[in-house]
Formats: sequence, structure tokens, C-alpha cells
Amino acid sequence: MGPRAPRNPQGEETEAVEPRKNGQDRKVSDELAETMRQGWADTERHDLEAVPQAAHTGRRRAALSARFPGERLVIPAGTLKVRANDTYYPFRPGSDYVYLTADQSEDGVLVLEPEDGGGHEATLYLLPRSDRENGEFWLSARGELWDGRRNSLTENARLLGLATADIRGLADLLADATGPVRVLRGLDAGVEESLRDKVTAERDEEFRVFLSEMRLVKDDFEIADLRFACEATARGFEDVVRALDKAQATSERYIEGTFFLRARVEGNTVGYASICAAGPHATTIHWVRNDGAVRPGDLLLLDAGVETRNLYTADITRTLPVSGRFTPLQRTVYEAVLDAQQAGIDAVKPGASYRDFHEAAQRVLTERLVSWGLFEDLSVERVLELGLQRRWTMHGTGHMLGLDVHDCAAARVERYSAGTLEAGMVLTVEPGLYFQADDLTVPEEYRGIGVRIEDDLLVTEDGSETLSSALPRGADDVEAWMASLLS
Ligand code: GLY
Ligand code: MN
Ligand code: MN
Repeated sequence: MGPRAPRNPQGEETEAVEPRKNGQDRKVSDELAETMRQGWADTERHDLEAVPQAAHTGRRRAALSARFPGERLVIPAGTLKVRANDTYYPFRPGSDYVYLTADQSEDGVLVLEPEDGGGHEATLYLLPRSDRENGEFWLSARGELWDGRRNSLTENARLLGLATADIRGLADLLADATGPVRVLRGLDAGVEESLRDKVTAERDEEFRVFLSEMRLVKDDFEIADLRFACEATARGFEDVVRALDKAQATSERYIEGTFFLRARVEGNTVGYASICAAGPHATTIHWVRNDGAVRPGDLLLLDAGVETRNLYTADITRTLPVSGRFTPLQRTVYEAVLDAQQAGIDAVKPGASYRDFHEAAQRVLTERLVSWGLFEDLSVERVLELGLQRRWTMHGTGHMLGLDVHDCAAARVERYSAGTLEAGMVLTVEPGLYFQADDLTVPEEYRGIGVRIEDDLLVTEDGSETLSSALPRGADDVEAWMASLLS
């Protein structure tokens, strides 16, 4: 990357000071300052229309307003995180902020101000375009010359269907505010500091929980975006199959890079660190080091998702034979997981308990483990009662999916894991079997085999729709699909 100015995350620098580059201050002549002030075209855009989400974000804000009448509500986007010195991790705004605004700016803050007659007025506080007159444009660490053109506040108001204001006035406004306030914590320390004496942890937690629960049932825009995320992810999996020869010549990294390319080209990035686990690495549930060998005859467990430009992510796993054909034992384990997944999928419908699909899948896995003689003389019921199958099944069978891969994580237990499925929810169904390479309690030939199959389901009025159905699941179908891509 090129040399750059130090960044003040609060964007407060407006004075004509030369940014430090390579540790050295340099002088700015009056002549240079003068020439930098002038000769710039007016690029303000007057033709912008609201983004498609704007209708939805307005409705979502109205629901939030109705739940907290008379209270000031503050939802920050989050700030840049330092990687080292003046370099930063890629910015990803908080999901609740995105849900309520469709904006993705770092340091943005949505404020809902209670109105006298009821309801709230929403204002989005953002960093405006850089001033050229005072040199901010090129001398400030947040200057557009360094970071690129931002939308003006007016442009953003048009795009988002939302009033906008300069973020640099917000700290004072919040410090002076009276009346009840709630803030979404953990995103912007500066905003929290401004509100320190006005908020309580308990009320803010209630706010966080409500925001998370708002996102449990997806609207049409979200469902369409998740559908696209699954389709793009399926194309990324096809890319990986086509690149398996290169992965065998290098490592799991080639798989990670291949999928990442698809995610960047079709979406924003990956929705979480891709798990590219070949051979015994497939038994490590969160294998993201991705530095191992990819060998013919082994399985490759690929768990990856494209995050769209609107920041919704897919979360799909396929376990593929590297050389295109399952061995008989790999197929036996694979089909046990497949049957468990199908039992889980069949249990997904509105009105069902959230736990049903997990229990259905666990039962099938346990039946297979018992039939393979792994529990000596214990019955399926007894194994389930003691939870002994978990040595090889380990994790839950799914989770909500949306803007976050593990979506709605702050929802109360009674609305989520002890709750009831409703049409419009989107969740994963992802059973697995994992026989660690050093597990002396299973026959040697099982050791090092790991299989997970994960699909993304929309709960419909009468059952479910598999959004990730573009990718085959059956063992024969997987082999045929791989052959078609490799030929
Ligand atoms: N990749 C994370 C998960 O499947 O939940
Ligand atoms: Mn998952
Ligand atoms: Mn996954």
C-alpha cells in the first residue's frame, strides 16, 4: 500500500496540518496550499434515487420506534480497528446499523430522536465530503484525496431515504441531550463515552436483545439477498472443484483463495473465515488455518459463504472426495450424515420447536453409530439420554442466518433455541460426524474421517425451501457434479 496519513477515527482533523509520512513532517508552502484549494470540478450528483432497501429500513425503524416510545435511540456503525500503526483491518459495519440504514460507512451513527407527538425522527450522522478550502481534503487523515470520494450528506440522504447530518456535531449533541437514552454498545467507544452518564447496562442490553430479535424473521429484500448469497456460494464451490488439481499441487490455501476470489467478485467478501479442511483436518470443526496438504483419496470439507454487497451471508458445507469418488467407507459415513440432514430438513416447518431439527438429526446419527458397533451394547435411547454420541457429533445442528453467519445471537432463549420456527426465518441445517485421527475408540479405518453437510433453509408457510439447493447433496449426485466440472 502507499504511504498514508495517520487516521483519527473520529474524523475531527480539519486544520491544515501536513500528515506525517514515513515518520517525517514536511513543510507545506503557501503556494502549494493555494493550488490545492482550487481547480476542482463540482461532482455533486443530483440524479440519485433511493436504494431498494430504503423502503424496508424505514419500516424496520418504525418497528423500533414503536417499541421504545419517548426514548432517544443510538445505533453506531462501528469504527476502524488498527492492525498496526496506521494500517487498519477491512471495515465491516455492525449488522444492526446496516439493518436499520442500509449504509456501510465507518463511524456512522443512527439516532432516533423522540418527537413530541409520538414516534421518532431518524437522523444518520456521517462524515461529509472533505473541505477543500481549509485543506482537509488532502491534509487530513480522513481526507478524500487519501481515502477516495465519499457521498455528500445530501447524496446519502437521497440514497438512504433518511435525514443526514455531520457526525462532528454528534458528540456535543449527545452530551447535551436530556431524557432517556439507549445505545447499542460495543461498537463505538467515543459515542458510549458521550453517553456515559445517561445510560444503564440493563436498559442497553434490553435494546440489544430487541434489535437481535427484530432480525429473526426476514423480509422479502433479505430473502432475495440470501438467495443470491447461496447462488454465488454455489458458483464458488464449483470454482473450487475446478481448481482441485492446483490445490493438490499446493495446499488448502489454494481452495481458500479460489473461493475468496468468487466472494470478492460477486459479493463483498466471505461471510466468515472459510474452512478448507482436507483429510484429517476435516475433523477439526473450525479449521481455518488452511495450510495442509490436499491428497487424492482424502475428503475435503469446505464450509464457506459469500457475503453479498448488502452484507448478507450464505453458510454452506460440502464434503467432497478430492479425487472425485468416495471410497466405500467414506460413502457410508457421508450417507449417515446425509440421512441425518434430511431428517433435520424434514423437521423444519412453521410451528415446529427450534430444537426439533437438531433432535431429529442427532437421532439418525446415533442410530448409525450404534449400528456400526461403536457403543458396544448400549441402545440408541440410552446413548441419546447420556449424550454419548456427541463425542463424534459435537456441535448443534444449525443456527439462524442473515447479516451475521450466526445471526440474531442476542435473541432470548425463548425466542431462539427454545422458541418456535416461523415463516420467514432462515437457518442452517448442518449435522456432522468427526472421527479424530487419534481416536482409539473407533476402528482404525474411521480415524481421520470428518463429514459435514450444511444447507441454508427458508422456513415457508408449509415447510421449508432450501436456498442452497444449487449444490448437490446425494453421494452419487456429488460425484456426477464433480465429474461434470472436471471433464
Ligand atoms: N461456518 C460456521 C458454521 O457453520 O456455523
Ligand atoms: Mn453454520
Ligand atoms: Mn458453516
